[in-house]
Amino acid sequence: MRGGWLGPIAVMLTGMVALAWSADSEVLRQRVPIDQIEAARAVTNPLPATTEVIEKGRALFEGKAFCRACHGADGKGLGMDLDYSTFKGPLPRNFTDRMWQQARTDGELFWILKNGSPGTDMAPFIPLVLTEEEAWQVLMYVRSFGGR
Ligand code: HEC
Repeated sequence: MRGGWLGPIAVMLTGMVALAWSADSEVLRQRVPIDQIEAARAVTNPLPATTEVIEKGRALFEGKAFCRACHGADGKGLGMDLDYSTFKGPLPRNFTDRMWQQARTDGELFWILKNGSPGTDMAPFIPLVLTEEEAWQVLMYVRSFGGR
């Protein structure tokens, strides 16, 4: 009766793979609405990827833009001693996730800073907290977590 226990094991393994996949696909799911995605992707970072720009971005991330409070000093998405159980929707993004870094264009990330991620605790930052130039500096720093 070998088939007797192979069946349940196969079902369990399939379930585990499906779970792992759905966690990833939720992170990678496009945030910019479909009718705006083309325009958003066409936007590119006008700043050069110099250490000076990245350093300015880091200062904003840790300072006045308080990204660090939610995204963590290490960019992994679990920052200070926040109560993440009160967050609506997904947790803050882990910026060291290479798959996520590759899935998003700079223009999509800029859209998020302008509009927030609707239905989540990621709020819009432009223009109240960040100018457009500062937003591009911060995004250069966000990209640096991906090893670029
Ligand atoms: C109040 C907590 C909070 C703060 C402060 C915050 N974020 Fe977020 N951020 C989130 C959450 C929650 C998400 C996940 C939203 C989602 O999954 O759509 C997120 C997602 C993101 C994303 C990913 C969106 C995507 O396309 O997957 C980027 C980029 C981002 N934040 C950048 C920033 C930057 C830059 C700052 C500072 C200017 C900042 N965040 C400040 C909570 C925060």
